[in-house]
Amino acid sequence: MRRIGMVSLIGAGPGDPDLLTVKALKRIQNAEVVVYDRLVSQDIMDLVPPKTALYPVGKKPRSHPIPQEEINQLLVDLAKEGKRVARLKGGDPFIFGRGSEEAAELVKAGVSYEVIPGITAAQGCASSLNLPLTHRGLATGLRYVTGHCQKDVPLDLDWASLADPNTTLVIYMGLAAIEEISAKLIEHGMPADMPAAAISKGTTSEERKVFGTLTTIGEQAKNANLPAPCLFMIGDVVGLKQALQVPAAFSGAKGDWADKRPHLEVING
Ligand SMILES: C[S@@+](CC[C@H](N)C(=O)[O-])C[C@H]1O[C@@H](n2cnc3c(N)ncnc32)[C@H](O)[C@@H]1O
Repeated sequence: MRRIGMVSLIGAGPGDPDLLTVKALKRIQNAEVVVYDRLVSQDIMDLVPPKTALYPVGKKPRSHPIPQEEINQLLVDLAKEGKRVARLKGGDPFIFGRGSEEAAELVKAGVSYEVIPGITAAQGCASSLNLPLTHRGLATGLRYVTGHCQKDVPLDLDWASLADPNTTLVIYMGLAAIEEISAKLIEHGMPADMPAAAISKGTTSEERKVFGTLTTIGEQAKNANLPAPCLFMIGDVVGLKQALQVPAAFSGAKGDWADKRPHLEVING
């Protein structure tokens, strides 16, 4: 009897392999085929067993080497061949990840699928900076917004509602348009000195970040030559940077710093 394949739409998180879910890791290790995006880090690809067939279908910013329709068809074809397919996407597959477009095509083709969530870039980057996305008294809400726009087409966002100073704004895909975004937010009433951060390759060994204000962050990101992927966090929560910094004495090498925290010494003592 022919085996029936299926597709797991898997969120691979922002880069650090330790941020994968246990379920994602299990699927990666049991897949016969892995179809993966450019944003899936090499450290995560290193977890794929050597016998697994690999299909890179990554897109670079502003270029689409493999059209989405072909990716959809590839997933359908592989599943119809009876394969267990792990479709690996950066972050979460259903947050600016086109996972739902692929899911819709799988359903249309009569292919079974599941969704395994991943840590989205906003959560990964914020925690890497020891910053919260909400904080009582500073941010009562949170918005994930795309800053991607077609070439020569102005960004069409609801600026008046985005300029709410009580909401943390996280801008995905905003590297090219951050100066335009900042200017629009200020024009619509967001304070020009609102704290802002830019984080490039968050949670990876190549992570870089700059801190500034809504007015300065675009130029700072440009001057620092921050490479993609880059995320912008705008809001009073970014101003907690100093308050939430781990004291230098306790921020030693990754993996053993927790043992040096004073409250742990008390518990252990
Ligand atoms: C097409 S979206 C994919 C988002 C992904 N599905 C998620 O949930 O994080 C790509 C954008 O995510 C952000 N991004 C993804 N990984 C990142 C990382 N490690 N550091 C900073 N930004 C990241 C960047 O804004 C990038 O332009």
